[in-house]
Amino acid sequence: MNTSRLISRIIPQYPLSLSGVHGPVHWARVWENGQHLASLNGADAEVVALFALFHDCCRTTEDEDYEHGQDAADFAQSLRGAELLINDHSFELLYEACARHTDGETEADITIQTCWDADRLDLGRVGIVPDPSRLCTEAARDADLIAWATQRAQEGFCPAILEEWLAD
Ligand SMILES: [Fe+2]
Repeated sequence: MNTSRLISRIIPQYPLSLSGVHGPVHWARVWENGQHLASLNGADAEVVALFALFHDCCRTTEDEDYEHGQDAADFAQSLRGAELLINDHSFELLYEACARHTDGETEADITIQTCWDADRLDLGRVGIVPDPSRLCTEAARDADLIAWATQRAQEGFCPAILEEWLAD
């Protein structure tokens, strides 16, 4: 996966503030949450990484935006065969994870569940401590992990991966 080519398509089209609560700093924490979860539960780490980059990139407002998950899925589809080179099965997982991530669901393939948990573990940035009953996977329901992710979210922690993304 050529992340720099993807980033060069994703970030310039993002219409909101890069420092906003749904922007790249959030994506980077979702990326790290997801990579950690995938190392524990066998989810497809590449799909989880792509979800972090895509899932909020078509938001048009920081407030309620019910279409942005589907829009993100469709945007990913538009990049297939060009900047986004993944197999059909992985793409189906990415597409579903993005399209359905706003619905509060918990039942899905483990990779999709891991995408959703990676996102929900970052709710501390908007003053919400994730409710374990709304997390999908055993790995994410760990109290220490919730506390770790929530503290980073509340502090606005900037993962190093973000610098790599923005430097490309
Ligand atoms: Fe998100």
